[in-house]
Amino acid sequence: MQYTNKITCVFENTLEFAKEMDSLDPLKGFRDKFYIPIINGKQSIYFVGNSLGLQPKSTQDYIYNELENWANYGVEAHFHAEVPWVDYHDIFIEPLSKILGCLPKEVVVMNHLTVNLHLLLTTFYRPDQQRYKIICEAKAFPSDQYAMETHVKHHGLDPNEAIVEVSPRHGEYTLRTEDILSAIQQSNNQTALVLFGGVNYYTGQYFDLEAITTAAHEAGAYAGFDLAHAVGNVELNLHDWDIDFACWCSYKYLNSGPGGVAGVYIHEKHTANTALPRFAGWWGHTKETRFLMEKGFEAIPTAEGWQLSNAPILAMAAHKASLDIFDDAGMEALHEKRKMLSDYLFFVIDDINSRHQLIEIITPRSEKERGCQVSMLMLKNGKEIFNELTRLRVIADWREPNAIRIAPVPLYNSFEDIWRFGNIVGSILKN
Ligand SMILES: Cc1ncc(COP(=O)(O)O)c(C=O)c1O
Repeated sequence: MQYTNKITCVFENTLEFAKEMDSLDPLKGFRDKFYIPIINGKQSIYFVGNSLGLQPKSTQDYIYNELENWANYGVEAHFHAEVPWVDYHDIFIEPLSKILGCLPKEVVVMNHLTVNLHLLLTTFYRPDQQRYKIICEAKAFPSDQYAMETHVKHHGLDPNEAIVEVSPRHGEYTLRTEDILSAIQQSNNQTALVLFGGVNYYTGQYFDLEAITTAAHEAGAYAGFDLAHAVGNVELNLHDWDIDFACWCSYKYLNSGPGGVAGVYIHEKHTANTALPRFAGWWGHTKETRFLMEKGFEAIPTAEGWQLSNAPILAMAAHKASLDIFDDAGMEALHEKRKMLSDYLFFVIDDINSRHQLIEIITPRSEKERGCQVSMLMLKNGKEIFNELTRLRVIADWREPNAIRIAPVPLYNSFEDIWRFGNIVGSILKN
């Protein structure tokens, strides 16, 4: 679907304006495909699709269908279900390659995010005496920090020496691309891996993945990314940017349910190399001989070669329900609407702030450096304001000591949601 936004408008912080924007929105019908949580009999304003995406109304049917297959066929569903379970994961290749900007052979759906990060580190973090450093963002998501730290220790190295964190400059909240690149350039052939988030979970900053990858390669290192907050959110072109590997979860912007099945991207130049070291399992073994159950692992020469176990079909059915909606909406239309929604959110917060000066937005203003999420520091009474928002049915996210993260998601949030949010914040601050 084409998002033909013909509105060259000046934003207004009014309900009429927000409703007018919604009426012109070509994706407006998609909201009704999701369950919006109800609080005290009224729809909430749900702004935490960056944490857990909403449930598509179709998900239950997709899962039920597989339960039926299980009931009707038992183990034979692996071969006789409409989508035979033995290759169920293949149905994600096409929709995900569009979302990620990669080749079908470079993507596979499997496991969970942190598990996949460990598997990828096993392949792509191979330190030697010369090259052993990992360059990453300071305050990376804790699971990523733990994964890096334990791999470094596993190789008998000291995390304090091997992990190099790039921090924002004094008085700033986000990273300057020039500082990331110069940290990589100055690493004197010691860097084995550059590992960043795609979008930082706290600030909402979308890093320049292509520039980081180029710098990593020039320094002789691999470049990998945790795309938990980027997939289904921002424009991605993993293959053309020559990124070595990436992983993500599906329960945030991809709306595939709590603890949903995750995914992995590996550039074709690596997937073709079946000799690359990895932790192996039978589902990554060449399909033609997998069921001969013989000794000696032979990797499938695609991202599938990193699979360990047979597919969790019920979780995958939920994933399929959501990806079908993404396919109907189209990434281009979603990106267009996302930009309009987050621009409007910036506008509304700025308008409130012009009266109260109690909010500092730390997410970059440049549209190229952010996705849906806008992170706000509350300069006074942050927790009280957040609690009041919750009481008034705004579901947002609180991060200590004083941050509120808001993520208007183009599939199901509206301009009216944003206006209502601003109106509620304005009334709280007035009192
Ligand atoms: C950036 C990032 N990395 C890693 C994780 C951990 O994910 P999981 O619990 O699915 O392994 C999360 C979870 O929210 C995350 O936001």
